[in-house]
Amino acid sequence: MIIAPSILSADFGNLQKSIGLVKSAEWLHIDVMDGHFVPNISIGPVVVKGLRKYTKQVFDTHLMISNPNKYIKAFIDAGSDRITFHIEAVSFPIETIDLIRKFGAKVGVSIKPSTSIEVLKPILPMIDQVLVMSVEPGFGGQEFMMNSVLKIQEIRELSKTLNPELLIVVDGGINEITSTFCAKAGADVLVAGSYVFNSDNPEQKMESLR
Ligand code: DX5
Ligand code: ZN
Repeated sequence: MIIAPSILSADFGNLQKSIGLVKSAEWLHIDVMDGHFVPNISIGPVVVKGLRKYTKQVFDTHLMISNPNKYIKAFIDAGSDRITFHIEAVSFPIETIDLIRKFGAKVGVSIKPSTSIEVLKPILPMIDQVLVMSVEPGFGGQEFMMNSVLKIQEIRELSKTLNPELLIVVDGGINEITSTFCAKAGADVLVAGSYVFNSDNPEQKMESLR
C-alpha cells in the first residue's frame, strides 16, 4: 500500500517541518483548490516549487480546479510528478491527458462521489491512476462515504481488462478502519490528511494504514 499524506492538513506556517514528519511516505499528496471548482482556496505552483527543494518524494498533485489545462505546465515545471484532474472539470478529457503526458508527468483522473464510473471507461487505458473521492472535494476532516468502496471494486474489475497497471487512489476520510475497506476493495494508494497530520506521531499513523 502506498501512503500519500495530504499536506492540506499540514502546518501551512511551516510546511518544511511538516513534510519532515512524514519522511517514510512514498508520495506527498498536494491539494490544489481554486475557490471555483470547490468552495475553498489552497495552494499554487509556487508552493510546490518551494517544497521541491526539501524532498525527493513523489509529488502527487490533485487539481480541484475549473480549468486544469491552463495550469498543468506550471505545476509540472514546479516539480509535480503526477497530476490528477477532475473529469467533471473538463469537456475533452483526452486533451488534458495528452497535455499532462506532453509535459512529462503521470496522469490521474478523479471522480467526485456523485460521478458514475461509466465516464472512466473510454479513458481508462490511457491513464496511470484513478482517484476516487470518498468525500466531497474541498475540505479535509470529513467522513468517509461508504459508496466509494463499491466504486473501487468496480474500477478494479474494469482495470483487469482495460488497464492492469492502473493505480487506484482513494482520497477523503481515510483512517485505520476505512483503509481496510479500501484495501479489500482493491485500492493501491491511500491519501490521508487529518488522520496523519492531526497527531503527535504521523509516522505511527502511516504505519497503522500500511
Ligand atoms: C479533499 C482533499 C483531500 C483531503 C483529505 O478535497 O482532496 O486530499 O486533504 O483529507 P482527510 O484525510 O482529512 O479527509
Ligand atoms: Zn486530494
